Amino acid sequence: MSNIERVHYLMSLLKVSLMAYKINEELIEKIKDTVNIVELVSRYVNLKPSGSNYVGLCPFHNEKTPSFTVSESKNLFHCFGCGEGGDLISFVMKIENLSFVESVKLLADMYNIPLETYDKTFNEEIKKEKDILYKINKEAALFYIYKLRKTPKALEYLRGRNIDHNTISKFGLGYAPNSWNEIYDYLKSKGYQDSDIEKAGLINRRKDNTGYYDKFRNRIIFPIIDNRNRIVGFGGRILGEGKPKYLNSPDTIIFEKGKNLYGINLVHKMSNREKIILVEGYMDVISLFACGITYSVASLGTAFTQDQAKLLKRYGKNIYICYDSDNAGIKAALKALDILEKEEVKAKVIVLPGGLDPDDFIREKGLDEFKRLEENALNSIDFKLYILKKKYNLDKLEEKIKFTKEAAKLLKILSSPIERDVYIDRISKETNISKEAIGREVFGNSYKSNTRIYKDKYINGKNRYNKNKILPVKAVLEPAHLKAEKNLLKLMIQNVDYYKRIKRSLDREDFFNYECKNLVNIIYDEYENNPGLTKLSIGLIINKLEDKDDIDYEIIDEIFNIDIVTEDINKLIEDSINTVNYFKLKIERESLANKIKELDLKKEKKKEDVEELRSLCIRLTELDKELKTHMQRLGKEGT
Ligand code: GTP
Ligand code: MN
Repeated sequence: MSNIERVHYLMSLLKVSLMAYKINEELIEKIKDTVNIVELVSRYVNLKPSGSNYVGLCPFHNEKTPSFTVSESKNLFHCFGCGEGGDLISFVMKIENLSFVESVKLLADMYNIPLETYDKTFNEEIKKEKDILYKINKEAALFYIYKLRKTPKALEYLRGRNIDHNTISKFGLGYAPNSWNEIYDYLKSKGYQDSDIEKAGLINRRKDNTGYYDKFRNRIIFPIIDNRNRIVGFGGRILGEGKPKYLNSPDTIIFEKGKNLYGINLVHKMSNREKIILVEGYMDVISLFACGITYSVASLGTAFTQDQAKLLKRYGKNIYICYDSDNAGIKAALKALDILEKEEVKAKVIVLPGGLDPDDFIREKGLDEFKRLEENALNSIDFKLYILKKKYNLDKLEEKIKFTKEAAKLLKILSSPIERDVYIDRISKETNISKEAIGREVFGNSYKSNTRIYKDKYINGKNRYNKNKILPVKAVLEPAHLKAEKNLLKLMIQNVDYYKRIKRSLDREDFFNYECKNLVNIIYDEYENNPGLTKLSIGLIINKLEDKDDIDYEIIDEIFNIDIVTEDINKLIEDSINTVNYFKLKIERESLANKIKELDLKKEKKKEDVEELRSLCIRLTELDKELKTHMQRLGKEGT
C-alpha cells in the first residue's frame, strides 16, 4: 500500500472525513440493494427453503442438524445454535475473516459494483496506475512463457526437476533470457513508458543514468498471481548455480510481498478449503502440486507475516506448516506458529526427515509418504517438545533434567487440565521422572495429578513411614504396584509354600504400602515363629493388626477378598515380584534425581560435592538400565 492509499484507508476506517463516511454509507446501501443474501450465503453454505426462510448447517460452529437460518426478506442471517448473526457484510467479515472495509471491498468486487462511483477514497488515479502495472506484468509473463518454450536448456532444467508441461502451464512458468535488454525492448515495443516498466520492477536504472537494464536475466520465472488472478510480481531462479539464487520483484503499488502468498491463486480456485500447507519456496509449491498436493502456498522470500497469516486463515480450515527440516526451517516454523497463534489459528507442523525440503521429499518418497507425514503432523506443543527432545540427550541425566524443565515451561500455557495431564504423562514416560515432579515444575507445589487419588488413599504419610531414609515419603504408589503387593500378600496368607517362594525374593522393607507393610510383618513373623503352619487365619491377622494405628481397613479387606484367578500361579508371583522391585528402583531413582538436582543447584560446589554428584549420576545410569530391563520383563511401558 502506498502512503496515499494508507491515509485514505485509515480515513475510511476512522470515518474522519464526513464526506468519505457519507459516501461509504451510500456504497453500503448499494451493496445491500445489489446482493441477495441467500445467493451470497449459498456460495458457502448449502441452503434449503424452510417456511419463509432458508436453513443450512452453520459454517461458524459444528452441528449436525441445521440451525443456521437466512431471511431473504430481512436480508439477515442468524444461527440458533451459536448465536452468530447479522447482515451480509458481517457474514463476509466472519466467513472470510476480513475487516469491515475489506469485506465491503470484496463484495463490491464480487458483484461488480464500481467503488470509485461511491467512494472517492478509492482514487481513480491510483487505480489507473495500478491497471497499467497489471497489464505490463501480464505482457511480461507472456513474453517469459514464450521464451521458455524457445529455450531448450531452461526446459531441460525444469524437466530435470520433474516439472511436467501441465505444471509449467498451471503456474505460468517462464524464462528470462540472458540479456540486458530483451524485456525492456519488448515492453517498449508494446508502447509502455520507461517509468511504468520501472515501477513494475522489471527493469533497473543504470548507475550512470544512461538508461535501463533488465532485472531478471537467465532465470526461470515464477509469476506471482493474487487471488483475483492478477499478476502482481515475479520471482526468478537462476538456471543452475549462481548468486543470488532467487530474485524477487521489489514491492510496488500492486505488490506487497508480506501480503501475498505464492500459489494462492490456485488454492483460491479450489472449492474445497479443508486444508492449506505453508511452505518456504516456489519450488516446493510447484513440486507438491506436480505430485498431487494442490493446496500449498509459499511466503515470498521474506519472513512469514501477520497479513499472510490472515490470508491463510481465510483459505484453509486446517493449516499446516511444512518448512525445510534444517535449523533455519525449524526456527522459521516456530515463528510462523506464533504468528498464526495470534490469529487464533492452531496450525500443525509437518516434520520432514533430515535436511529435506518438501520438494526433495515428495520427489524422493512420493505422494503417499507425504500424505503419511501430513497425517502425523504435530501440533504446536508436540512440535516444540520434538525440538526440545532433539536438543537434549535424554540418556544423560543432567540434560534430561534440563529437558524436563524446559518442557514444563511449555506446558504452562495449556489451559485444559486434560491436555496438560496428557502431556505431563507423556513427558514422565519419556524421562522416567514422576508425573508429580513434572507437575510441580509446571504448576508449582499446588499441582495434583490424577494419581493423587491413590496417593491420598494408599500412600504412607510422613509420620507413618520413614524407616528407610532413601525412600521419599511423597512417592506415589501406582495401582499396578499396589495390586502386586496385595496379590503377594493374599498368596502368602493362603499357602506357606508361596510365602517361602516370595520371601526368597522380597524383604519386609520391599513392601511399600503402609497396610501391606504391616501385613507382611505379621505374615513373616507368624510363619517364622510357627514352623508347622501351612496357612494363616484371617482372624489372627486382624487381631494382630488391632494394636496398630491408622490402618485403612478397606485395603486390608480388599486383600482378604482377592480372588486369585490365573492359569499360571508361578508367573503371577514372578510378575508381582518384578513389579514390586521395579517400583522400588523407581523410588530410589526419584530420590536420587532429587539429590542430584539439589547438589547441582549449589552455587559453589566443593570437591566432595562434585565427587558425590559423579557417583550419584553413575548410580542413576545404573538404575535406569535396571529399570529398562524390568520394564522389558514386565512387558510394559514405564508406568
Ligand atoms: P531450490 O534450490 O530451487 O530447490 O530452492 P529452494 O526452494 O530449496 O530454496 P531455499 O530453501 O533456498 O529458499 C526458499 C525460498 O527463499 C525461495 O523460494 C525464495 O523465495 C527465497 N530465497 C532463496 N534464496 C534467495 C535469495 O538468494 N534471495 C532472495 N531474495 N530470496 C531467496
Ligand atoms: Mn529445494
